[in-house]
Amino acid sequence: MIITVTSFKGGVGKTTTAIHLAAYFQQFAPTLLVDGDAIRSATRWSQRGDGAGLPFKVVNHAQMVNHIRDYQHVVIDTEGNPSDDDFRDLAQNCDLLVIPAVPETVATDGLTFTLGKLHALNNERYRVLLTMVQPKPRTDGEQLRAMLIENGISVFAAEVPRLVAFEKAATDGVPVYAAKDARAERAWKSYQSAGKEITHHGKHTNKEREVRRLATTHEPARLTDGRNNHDRKATRKKQ
Ligand SMILES: Nc1ncnc2c1ncn2[C@@H]1O[C@H](COP(=O)(O)OP(=O)(O)OP(=O)(O)O)[C@@H](O)[C@H]1O
Ligand SMILES: [Mg+2]
Repeated sequence: MIITVTSFKGGVGKTTTAIHLAAYFQQFAPTLLVDGDAIRSATRWSQRGDGAGLPFKVVNHAQMVNHIRDYQHVVIDTEGNPSDDDFRDLAQNCDLLVIPAVPETVATDGLTFTLGKLHALNNERYRVLLTMVQPKPRTDGEQLRAMLIENGISVFAAEVPRLVAFEKAATDGVPVYAAKDARAERAWKSYQSAGKEITHHGKHTNKEREVRRLATTHEPARLTDGRNNHDRKATRKKQ
């Protein structure tokens, strides 16, 4: 699966999200993180841990072609604020676009613009992830979620809380579960939940693809016992 992390705004947790989704998928299959940002935040994160801090390989775009075939999952971190064309290209060349959004800033930062771009994609292609969500009594997260759902925008049920553990993880060059912080586990759980939702999404889209393939090839649908309708009719005639 190819997962691309992008957003219309900088500093919303793209790199943090890409690092932790890659850590999540690496638990199940070889995963590559492609650092598509010229600032190389993900690469620097991996170097701070002396190359041993992150459990997956990090490469830049140019190196990607040499590695991609060896990996089952690829997570791509990108620069913020893509042009309309870039955004469409990013969406068309991955299985899922993950779009982190920080509740307080989105509300004041061109929400209509964001909605317009998302409406241009179909729901299978993207999902918004609320990040740096502040604890109660703040309700910005809930409000943004409600507004997005009301507008037909696809949102992860999981959300990432604002926790210092993430900054410590970046400083030490490790995933958040290895950060020296009392809330490290809570922080990691939020990305694990998001990862689980993506796995489920993947199954769904694979199923969709199979249905579409069958529809275009006119191949008879296989029934659960491995026979198709034609075989069944033949058996019935014989009886
Ligand atoms: N859930 C979180 N809680 C607290 N701090 C966070 C969280 N997620 C990210 N941060 C911090 O916020 C800052 C921006 O995060 P990050 O670098 O992941 O964003 P970005 O969208 O990749 O930024 P850029 O646009 O510069 O690439 C970093 O200092 C990071 O450690
Ligand atoms: Mg970044």
